[in-house]
Parts: sequence; C-alpha cells; structure tokens
Amino acid sequence: MIEMSEVYKTYPNGVLAINGIDIVIHPGEFVYVVGPSGAGKSTFIKMMYREEKPSSGKIVINGIDLSTLKESKVPMLRRSIGVVFQDFKLLPKLTVFENVAFALEVIGESPRNIRKRVLDVLDLVQLKHKARFFPDELSGGEQQRVSIARSIVNNPAVMIADEPTGNLDPDTSWEIMHLFEEINNRGTTVVMATHNKEIVNTLKKRVIAVEDGKIVRDEARGEYGLYD
Ligand SMILES: Nc1ncnc2c1ncn2[C@@H]1O[C@H](COP(=O)(O)OP(=O)(O)OP(=O)(O)O)[C@@H](O)[C@H]1O
Ligand SMILES: [Mg+2]
Repeated sequence: MIEMSEVYKTYPNGVLAINGIDIVIHPGEFVYVVGPSGAGKSTFIKMMYREEKPSSGKIVINGIDLSTLKESKVPMLRRSIGVVFQDFKLLPKLTVFENVAFALEVIGESPRNIRKRVLDVLDLVQLKHKARFFPDELSGGEQQRVSIARSIVNNPAVMIADEPTGNLDPDTSWEIMHLFEEINNRGTTVVMATHNKEIVNTLKKRVIAVEDGKIVRDEARGEYGLYD
C-alpha cells in the first residue's frame, strides 16, 4: 500500500516539483504515471523509495511512515520495494548472477538460498542461460530483464519503474511489459512512469496523470492522453 497525503516537494534550487499530492495505491494494483516532461513523475516516484524526501506531507509505504523513518531504516524500506530504471543501472564488473544476488548477500542470506532464489528469478525473466555473462555482453532488453530480476529477488510488495522501456525498441518494450504483467499477476503492486503511449493505451491499467506537480487525472483503465 502506498499512501501520500498533502505532499509537497521543493528542490533546494527552489523548483516546486510536487505541488500537493494525495493518493492511495492499493496492494496488487498496476498504475501508470503519465504526464509531460518535467511534470514531477520521477520526483513522485523517488519519494516512494526515499531517494527524495518531501518538503511537507505524509508518505506511508507498506505500513512504513517515511516522515519518521530514520536513515538507518531506509535499507529496510528499500527491501520492500523493487526499483527499475530506464538505464538499467547494473554493476558492470559483476555477472548477471552476481548483480541479482547482491541484494540477497547484503541481507545475509545463505549461499544456498541465494543460489536458488537467483536462479528462480533468472528463470522467470528467461535469462538463466546467461547467468555468467556480464552486462556489456547483453542486449538492452536482456539488461532490463536482469534489472527486473534484481528488483524482485527480495519478493518486494511493490515494484517501481521509471520509464523502464525508455531505451528499448517497441518489440523489446512489449516483452518487458509482459514481464511486468506477470509480476503483477503474482501479487506485486506495480507503479510505472512512462511516455509510452501505445503501451498505456493498449495494456489498460489505472492511469495517474501528473502536470505541474499535481494529479490532474486518475482513472481506472485510463488513456495516455495528449502528451508527447
Ligand atoms: N534534483 C533536482 N534538483 C532540482 N530540480 C529538479 C531535480 N530533479 C528534478 N527537478 C525539477 O523538478 C521538476 C520535476 O522533475 P521530474 O524529474 O520529476 O519530472 P518528470 O515528470 O519525471 O519529467 P520527465 O518526463 O522528463 O522524466 C522539473 O522542473 C525538474 O527540472
Ligand atoms: Mg522522469
């Protein structure tokens, strides 16, 4: 569950990026965040995993109140949220297996459990056969599948993605979307900022439209709208 009430965010340079957002996203929902460039989509999403802090207002993620959350507890929050980026953000010197295993190693899982869990999620993204490859030996779509495997290896309640198909061709983008659907069908909440009009208008989900830091539209099975 994601809850925001009266959330505002002004960056240190004075830019008002979020101008009063109230929202509830229930467990198991699939939500697109759309809107023009500079509208505040990434800021909205970053506040969910404490990459950015709101200037005021209340944010509760999976029962964790971020306004009172100590810095030392941020890793605990991050374990309940998987994050996927446009540019994948894989560690170049680690293999596919190691990139995915990393999140489990830091929480002290046993090597045996790590191996099982990593191979399970690599199987889900159909990359088990490339477990020993390095990121630069993979296509963009494959790299994004690794980053998706990494994001869900902890079994997070929520998966957040900021333009996950932004660097991918249309066919590969659809593959990634089918993977997101499958992850959502297994019960994970998915929140995805996107400029991909075709995907939003075809694979119908809840659409939250952000403009000038405000939610201007919130529709079940909504449309992309008139943005670029
Ligand atoms: N770290 C930052 N410091 C200062 N201003 C920022 C910072 N990050 C974003 N902004 C500003 O906040 C506003 C919202 O930016 P944000 O990145 O959230 O938009 P967006 O909707 O994700 O845009 P895009 O579709 O281009 O990714 C913009 O005016 C942007 O310039
Ligand atoms: Mg953005």
